[in-house]
Amino acid sequence: MRTVIILGSARNQGNTHLLASYVANDTAATLFNLSDYEISPYDYEHKNRDDDFLLLMNEVLEFEHIVLASPIYWYAPSSVMKVFLDRLSDLITIEKSLGRKLRDKSGSVIATGCDLVPPPCFEQMFQLTYRYLGIDYREMLYCPCIEDIEIYQHHAVIDIFLGKSHAK
Ligand SMILES: Cc1cc2nc3c(=O)[nH]c(=O)nc-3n(C[C@H](O)[C@H](O)[C@H](O)COP(=O)(O)O)c2cc1C
Repeated sequence: MRTVIILGSARNQGNTHLLASYVANDTAATLFNLSDYEISPYDYEHKNRDDDFLLLMNEVLEFEHIVLASPIYWYAPSSVMKVFLDRLSDLITIEKSLGRKLRDKSGSVIATGCDLVPPPCFEQMFQLTYRYLGIDYREMLYCPCIEDIEIYQHHAVIDIFLGKSHAK
């Protein structure tokens, strides 16, 4: 399955970046880092339609499985991920034909946080967003890390995630 991982973290080479890169290497997925794109906040007047959002989405829509990767910041996704999610509204307003292409995709989430268990609202927000867009939600990979992530400590959950998120 052709998989794309979209990373949104305030820290390049941070925990979520390292985890997303590990999964990308292991599965031959393509990783897009939102920090490489100029994506401005949602605008009701769509004056930002020439920024990088549609450029990125045109590439993302070439893939079958979409993974959104974010740290938990205050029980929620990072602000860069939230800006990206808000812009998905463009796909149900001014770019409906692109939005319809999401309907045959599946989706997952990759997250890191310092709490042992993530708050239910974090995964639910992604789940509901995927559902609204017609994307078949699979699974969240969550790796708790008090400080810097040590990938070897998370192999068991990573393997479970890869089994479920890539199941046909
Ligand atoms: C602003 C901020 C808010 C945070 N809020 C939470 C939180 O609500 N729950 C949690 O488990 N971890 C929280 N953390 C910890 C981070 O999620 C954790 O360190 C994560 O691995 C950082 O990933 P990054 O290196 O990609 O930024 C927070 C960290 C920051 C900087």
